[in-house]
Amino acid sequence: VVGGQTDDCFAEAVRIGLGSMPKWLPCRYFYDTAGSRLFERICDLPEYYLTRIEERLLRTNRREMVERFGTTPVIVELGSGSSRKTRWLLEAACARFGTIEYMPIDVSGPLLKVAAEALTDALAGLRVTALVGDYRAALDLLRKRRECPRLFLFLGSSLGNYERDSAIALLRHIHDASHAGDRLLLGTDLVKDAAILEAAYNDASGLTAQFNKNLLLRINRELGGRFDVGSFIHRAHYDAARSRVEMHLVSRHEQQVRIDKLGMVAAFSEGETIHTENSHKYTITELQELAAGSGFVEELAWTDEAGWYRVQMWRRV
Ligand code: TRP
Repeated sequence: VVGGQTDDCFAEAVRIGLGSMPKWLPCRYFYDTAGSRLFERICDLPEYYLTRIEERLLRTNRREMVERFGTTPVIVELGSGSSRKTRWLLEAACARFGTIEYMPIDVSGPLLKVAAEALTDALAGLRVTALVGDYRAALDLLRKRRECPRLFLFLGSSLGNYERDSAIALLRHIHDASHAGDRLLLGTDLVKDAAILEAAYNDASGLTAQFNKNLLLRINRELGGRFDVGSFIHRAHYDAARSRVEMHLVSRHEQQVRIDKLGMVAAFSEGETIHTENSHKYTITELQELAAGSGFVEELAWTDEAGWYRVQMWRRV
Protein backbone atom coordinates (compact mmCIF):
# COMPACT_ATOMS: atom_id res chain seq x y z
CA VAL A 1 0.00 0.00 0.00
CA VAL A 2 1.51 3.28 -1.16
CA GLY A 3 0.55 6.69 0.28
CA GLY A 4 -1.77 7.14 3.24
CA GLN A 5 -1.13 10.67 4.48
CA THR A 6 -3.91 12.25 6.55
CA ASP A 7 -6.25 14.53 4.73
CA ASP A 8 -5.92 18.23 5.63
CA CYS A 9 -8.31 19.01 2.82
CA PHE A 10 -11.22 17.77 4.93
CA ALA A 11 -10.93 20.75 7.30
CA GLU A 12 -10.80 23.14 4.36
CA ALA A 13 -13.76 21.48 2.66
CA VAL A 14 -15.86 21.73 5.82
CA ARG A 15 -14.90 25.36 6.35
CA ILE A 16 -15.88 26.27 2.81
CA GLY A 17 -18.95 24.02 2.55
CA LEU A 18 -20.60 24.96 5.83
CA GLY A 19 -19.74 28.60 5.28
CA SER A 20 -21.60 28.59 1.94
CA MET A 21 -25.20 29.31 1.16
CA PRO A 22 -26.67 26.76 0.51
CA LYS A 23 -24.45 24.55 2.66
CA TRP A 24 -22.77 21.54 1.07
CA LEU A 25 -20.00 18.99 1.65
CA PRO A 26 -18.02 17.02 -0.96
CA CYS A 27 -19.12 13.37 -1.05
CA ARG A 28 -15.62 11.87 -1.07
CA TYR A 29 -15.44 12.55 2.66
CA PHE A 30 -18.15 9.96 3.29
CA TYR A 31 -15.53 7.27 2.98
CA ASP A 32 -13.52 7.26 6.19
CA THR A 33 -13.15 3.85 7.82
CA ALA A 34 -16.60 3.92 9.45
CA GLY A 35 -18.21 5.32 6.29
CA SER A 36 -16.57 2.78 4.00
CA ARG A 37 -17.82 -0.05 6.23
CA LEU A 38 -21.35 1.39 6.16
CA PHE A 39 -21.19 1.68 2.40
CA GLU A 40 -20.22 -1.98 2.04
CA ARG A 41 -23.43 -2.81 3.93
CA ILE A 42 -25.50 -0.48 1.72
CA CYS A 43 -24.34 -2.57 -1.23
CA ASP A 44 -26.14 -5.60 0.27
CA LEU A 45 -29.46 -3.80 0.87
CA PRO A 46 -32.48 -5.13 -1.04
CA GLU A 47 -33.36 -1.59 -2.19
CA TYR A 48 -29.85 -0.86 -3.45
CA TYR A 49 -30.07 -2.74 -6.75
CA LEU A 50 -26.97 -1.08 -8.26
CA THR A 51 -24.28 -3.34 -6.77
CA ARG A 52 -26.28 -6.51 -7.31
CA ILE A 53 -26.92 -5.86 -10.99
CA GLU A 54 -23.41 -4.64 -11.66
CA GLU A 55 -21.87 -7.65 -9.99
CA ARG A 56 -24.04 -9.97 -12.07
CA LEU A 57 -23.10 -8.19 -15.30
CA LEU A 58 -19.41 -8.50 -14.41
CA ARG A 59 -19.67 -12.13 -13.40
CA THR A 60 -21.63 -13.17 -16.47
CA ASN A 61 -19.56 -11.27 -19.02
CA ARG A 62 -16.09 -11.25 -17.52
CA ARG A 63 -14.52 -13.52 -20.13
CA GLU A 64 -15.71 -11.32 -22.96
CA MET A 65 -14.38 -8.26 -21.09
CA VAL A 66 -10.94 -9.74 -20.60
CA GLU A 67 -10.72 -11.09 -24.14
CA ARG A 68 -10.58 -7.63 -25.65
CA PHE A 69 -6.90 -7.57 -24.75
CA GLY A 70 -4.27 -9.26 -26.93
CA THR A 71 -1.59 -8.93 -24.26
CA THR A 72 -1.74 -8.88 -20.46
CA PRO A 73 -3.31 -5.64 -19.21
CA VAL A 74 -2.55 -3.88 -15.95
CA ILE A 75 -5.89 -3.41 -14.17
CA VAL A 76 -6.30 -0.02 -12.45
CA GLU A 77 -9.42 0.64 -10.38
CA LEU A 78 -10.64 4.06 -9.24
CA GLY A 79 -12.50 3.83 -5.93
CA SER A 80 -12.00 0.11 -5.42
CA GLY A 81 -13.47 -0.17 -1.90
CA SER A 82 -13.57 -3.86 -0.95
CA SER A 83 -12.90 -4.94 -4.59
CA ARG A 84 -15.72 -7.41 -4.11
CA LYS A 85 -17.16 -7.13 -7.63
CA THR A 86 -13.75 -6.77 -9.26
CA ARG A 87 -12.72 -10.16 -7.96
CA TRP A 88 -14.74 -11.83 -10.74
CA LEU A 89 -12.87 -9.91 -13.37
CA LEU A 90 -9.48 -10.49 -11.77
CA GLU A 91 -10.20 -14.19 -11.63
CA ALA A 92 -11.00 -14.23 -15.36
CA ALA A 93 -7.91 -12.15 -16.15
CA CYS A 94 -5.63 -14.49 -14.15
CA ALA A 95 -7.16 -17.51 -15.89
CA ARG A 96 -6.55 -15.97 -19.29
CA PHE A 97 -3.12 -14.34 -18.80
CA GLY A 98 -1.57 -16.26 -15.89
CA THR A 99 -0.37 -13.25 -13.94
CA ILE A 100 -2.07 -9.91 -13.48
CA GLU A 101 -1.00 -6.65 -11.88
CA TYR A 102 -3.87 -4.91 -10.10
CA MET A 103 -3.69 -1.31 -8.86
CA PRO A 104 -6.65 -0.39 -6.66
CA ILE A 105 -6.97 3.29 -5.74
CA ASP A 106 -9.13 4.36 -2.82
CA VAL A 107 -9.38 7.06 -0.16
CA SER A 108 -9.77 4.41 2.57
CA GLY A 109 -6.34 2.96 3.46
CA PRO A 110 -7.53 0.34 5.97
CA LEU A 111 -10.09 -1.03 3.51
CA LEU A 112 -7.47 -1.22 0.74
CA LYS A 113 -5.12 -3.21 2.94
CA VAL A 114 -7.74 -5.81 3.91
CA ALA A 115 -8.93 -6.10 0.29
CA ALA A 116 -5.41 -6.44 -1.13
CA GLU A 117 -4.49 -9.19 1.34
CA ALA A 118 -7.67 -11.16 0.70
CA LEU A 119 -7.15 -10.93 -3.08
CA THR A 120 -3.52 -12.03 -3.09
CA ASP A 121 -4.42 -14.96 -0.81
CA ALA A 122 -7.22 -16.05 -3.13
CA LEU A 123 -5.63 -15.56 -6.56
CA ALA A 124 -2.21 -17.09 -7.15
CA GLY A 125 -1.27 -15.02 -10.21
CA LEU A 126 -2.21 -11.65 -8.75
CA ARG A 127 0.17 -8.86 -7.78
CA VAL A 128 -1.46 -5.93 -6.01
CA THR A 129 -0.07 -2.39 -5.69
CA ALA A 130 -2.62 -0.31 -3.79
CA LEU A 131 -2.63 3.49 -3.87
CA VAL A 132 -4.25 5.46 -1.05
CA GLY A 133 -5.53 8.86 -2.05
CA ASP A 134 -7.65 10.65 -4.58
CA TYR A 135 -7.93 9.74 -8.23
CA ARG A 136 -6.18 12.76 -9.63
CA ALA A 137 -2.91 12.22 -7.79
CA ALA A 138 -2.95 8.53 -8.73
CA LEU A 139 -3.71 9.28 -12.38
CA ASP A 140 -0.84 11.80 -12.50
CA LEU A 141 1.45 9.07 -11.22
CA LEU A 142 0.18 6.64 -13.85
CA ARG A 143 0.64 9.10 -16.68
CA LYS A 144 4.40 8.82 -16.19
CA ARG A 145 4.39 5.02 -16.40
CA ARG A 146 4.59 3.44 -19.79
CA GLU A 147 3.48 -0.17 -19.39
CA CYS A 148 0.66 -1.08 -21.76
CA PRO A 149 -2.09 -1.89 -22.16
CA ARG A 150 -4.25 -0.86 -19.23
CA LEU A 151 -7.78 -1.59 -18.19
CA PHE A 152 -9.22 1.18 -16.02
CA LEU A 153 -12.23 0.30 -13.88
CA PHE A 154 -14.67 2.91 -12.65
CA LEU A 155 -17.62 1.01 -11.21
CA GLY A 156 -20.50 1.47 -8.79
CA SER A 157 -21.98 4.43 -10.63
CA SER A 158 -19.29 6.60 -9.03
CA LEU A 159 -19.18 8.73 -12.18
CA GLY A 160 -22.73 9.75 -11.27
CA ASN A 161 -21.45 11.44 -8.14
CA TYR A 162 -19.80 14.11 -10.28
CA GLU A 163 -21.53 17.11 -11.78
CA ARG A 164 -21.79 16.62 -15.53
CA ASP A 165 -18.93 19.01 -16.31
CA SER A 166 -16.69 17.44 -13.68
CA ALA A 167 -17.54 13.99 -15.01
CA ILE A 168 -16.20 14.99 -18.44
CA ALA A 169 -13.13 16.53 -16.78
CA LEU A 170 -12.40 13.32 -14.87
CA LEU A 171 -12.87 11.19 -17.99
CA ARG A 172 -10.46 13.45 -19.86
CA HIS A 173 -8.03 13.07 -17.00
CA ILE A 174 -8.23 9.29 -17.40
CA HIS A 175 -7.74 9.82 -21.14
CA ASP A 176 -4.61 11.90 -20.48
CA ALA A 177 -3.18 9.27 -18.14
CA SER A 178 -3.69 6.47 -20.67
CA HIS A 179 -2.48 5.39 -24.11
CA ALA A 180 -4.24 4.42 -27.33
CA GLY A 181 -5.70 0.92 -26.91
CA ASP A 182 -6.20 1.21 -23.15
CA ARG A 183 -9.75 0.59 -22.04
CA LEU A 184 -12.16 1.92 -19.47
CA LEU A 185 -14.85 -0.28 -17.96
CA LEU A 186 -17.51 2.05 -16.62
CA GLY A 187 -20.54 1.11 -14.52
CA THR A 188 -23.41 3.59 -14.54
CA ASP A 189 -26.93 3.74 -13.20
CA LEU A 190 -29.67 4.60 -15.70
CA VAL A 191 -32.66 6.96 -15.56
CA LYS A 192 -35.74 5.18 -14.20
CA ASP A 193 -38.85 5.52 -12.08
CA ALA A 194 -38.42 7.99 -9.18
CA ALA A 195 -39.86 5.61 -6.56
CA ILE A 196 -37.25 2.94 -7.33
CA LEU A 197 -34.45 5.50 -7.23
CA GLU A 198 -35.59 7.12 -4.00
CA ALA A 199 -35.93 3.75 -2.25
CA ALA A 200 -32.34 2.90 -3.23
CA TYR A 201 -31.10 6.01 -1.41
CA ASN A 202 -33.53 5.91 1.50
CA ASP A 203 -33.70 2.29 2.59
CA ALA A 204 -36.21 0.98 5.11
CA SER A 205 -33.55 -0.14 7.59
CA GLY A 206 -32.08 3.37 7.83
CA LEU A 207 -28.56 2.36 6.85
CA THR A 208 -28.26 5.05 4.19
CA ALA A 209 -29.39 7.64 6.74
CA GLN A 210 -26.64 6.42 9.05
CA PHE A 211 -24.12 6.63 6.21
CA ASN A 212 -25.14 10.20 5.40
CA LYS A 213 -24.99 11.25 9.07
CA ASN A 214 -21.56 9.67 9.49
CA LEU A 215 -20.28 12.77 7.75
CA LEU A 216 -21.37 14.84 10.78
CA LEU A 217 -19.82 12.30 13.14
CA ARG A 218 -16.60 12.54 11.16
CA ILE A 219 -16.60 16.31 11.67
CA ASN A 220 -17.10 15.66 15.39
CA ARG A 221 -14.28 13.10 15.50
CA GLU A 222 -11.69 14.84 13.39
CA LEU A 223 -12.47 18.53 13.73
CA GLY A 224 -13.94 18.83 17.22
CA GLY A 225 -17.45 19.39 15.88
CA ARG A 226 -20.44 19.50 18.25
CA PHE A 227 -23.09 18.09 15.92
CA ASP A 228 -26.06 16.40 17.57
CA VAL A 229 -26.70 13.86 14.84
CA GLY A 230 -30.25 13.24 16.06
CA SER A 231 -31.21 16.80 15.19
CA PHE A 232 -30.67 16.14 11.46
CA ILE A 233 -32.83 14.10 9.10
CA HIS A 234 -31.57 12.19 6.06
CA ARG A 235 -33.39 13.14 2.87
CA ALA A 236 -33.03 11.62 -0.61
CA HIS A 237 -35.02 13.15 -3.44
CA TYR A 238 -35.01 12.45 -7.19
CA ASP A 239 -34.90 15.63 -9.25
CA ALA A 240 -36.24 14.43 -12.60
CA ALA A 241 -35.34 17.67 -14.42
CA ARG A 242 -31.66 17.14 -13.55
CA SER A 243 -31.84 13.33 -13.57
CA ARG A 244 -30.21 13.05 -10.19
CA VAL A 245 -30.87 11.82 -6.69
CA GLU A 246 -29.89 14.53 -4.22
CA MET A 247 -28.87 13.64 -0.69
CA HIS A 248 -29.33 16.16 2.08
CA LEU A 249 -29.11 16.43 5.85
CA VAL A 250 -31.99 18.56 7.08
CA SER A 251 -31.82 20.49 10.35
CA ARG A 252 -34.89 19.68 12.47
CA HIS A 253 -34.80 23.06 14.18
CA GLU A 254 -32.85 26.27 14.41
CA GLN A 255 -29.42 25.55 15.89
CA GLN A 256 -25.84 26.71 16.15
CA VAL A 257 -23.07 24.14 15.91
CA ARG A 258 -19.52 24.86 17.05
CA ILE A 259 -16.60 23.24 15.28
CA ASP A 260 -13.70 23.72 17.68
CA LYS A 261 -10.71 23.03 15.44
CA LEU A 262 -12.03 25.37 12.76
CA GLY A 263 -12.94 28.08 15.25
CA MET A 264 -16.29 28.43 13.52
CA VAL A 265 -19.99 28.24 14.32
CA ALA A 266 -22.37 26.94 11.69
CA ALA A 267 -25.85 28.40 12.09
CA PHE A 268 -28.87 26.46 10.80
CA SER A 269 -32.44 27.61 10.46
CA GLU A 270 -35.27 25.09 10.81
CA GLY A 271 -35.40 22.96 7.64
CA GLU A 272 -32.08 24.23 6.32
CA THR A 273 -30.07 21.51 4.59
CA ILE A 274 -26.51 20.44 3.95
CA HIS A 275 -26.32 19.06 0.42
CA THR A 276 -24.06 16.03 0.79
CA GLU A 277 -24.28 14.22 -2.52
CA ASN A 278 -25.66 13.94 -6.03
CA SER A 279 -26.08 10.69 -7.88
CA HIS A 280 -26.69 11.43 -11.55
CA LYS A 281 -28.61 8.96 -13.64
CA TYR A 282 -27.81 8.66 -17.31
CA THR A 283 -29.49 7.68 -20.55
CA ILE A 284 -27.65 5.50 -23.05
CA THR A 285 -27.46 8.41 -25.49
CA GLU A 286 -25.87 10.63 -22.85
CA LEU A 287 -23.33 7.94 -22.04
CA GLN A 288 -22.33 7.62 -25.67
CA GLU A 289 -21.96 11.40 -25.87
CA LEU A 290 -19.77 11.30 -22.77
CA ALA A 291 -17.50 8.76 -24.45
CA ALA A 292 -17.17 10.87 -27.57
CA GLY A 293 -16.62 14.04 -25.53
CA SER A 294 -13.71 12.57 -23.63
CA GLY A 295 -11.75 10.73 -26.32
CA PHE A 296 -13.14 7.22 -26.05
CA VAL A 297 -15.26 4.99 -28.29
CA GLU A 298 -17.74 2.52 -26.96
CA GLU A 299 -16.62 -1.00 -27.79
CA LEU A 300 -19.08 -3.17 -25.85
CA ALA A 301 -21.92 -2.64 -23.39
CA TRP A 302 -24.04 -4.80 -21.12
CA THR A 303 -27.43 -3.98 -19.58
CA ASP A 304 -29.75 -6.01 -17.34
CA GLU A 305 -33.15 -7.14 -18.73
CA ALA A 306 -35.01 -4.38 -16.89
CA GLY A 307 -32.68 -1.73 -18.32
CA TRP A 308 -31.76 -0.37 -14.89
CA TYR A 309 -27.98 -0.42 -15.03
CA ARG A 310 -25.28 -0.41 -17.67
CA VAL A 311 -21.66 -1.52 -17.81
CA GLN A 312 -19.75 -0.31 -20.84
CA MET A 313 -16.28 -0.84 -22.18
CA TRP A 314 -14.72 2.15 -23.87
CA ARG A 315 -11.53 2.07 -25.92
CA ARG A 316 -9.16 4.99 -25.66
CA VAL A 317 -8.38 6.55 -29.04
N1 TRP B 1 -21.84 5.82 -6.00
C1 TRP B 1 -22.94 5.51 -5.13
C2 TRP B 1 -24.24 5.95 -5.80
O1 TRP B 1 -24.33 7.04 -6.26
C3 TRP B 1 -22.76 6.17 -3.80
C4 TRP B 1 -23.92 6.04 -2.83
C5 TRP B 1 -24.79 5.04 -2.72
C6 TRP B 1 -24.30 6.96 -1.84
N2 TRP B 1 -25.68 5.26 -1.73
C7 TRP B 1 -25.40 6.42 -1.16
C8 TRP B 1 -23.82 8.17 -1.45
C9 TRP B 1 -26.02 7.10 -0.14
C10 TRP B 1 -24.45 8.85 -0.42
C11 TRP B 1 -25.54 8.33 0.25
O2 TRP B 1 -25.14 5.17 -5.86
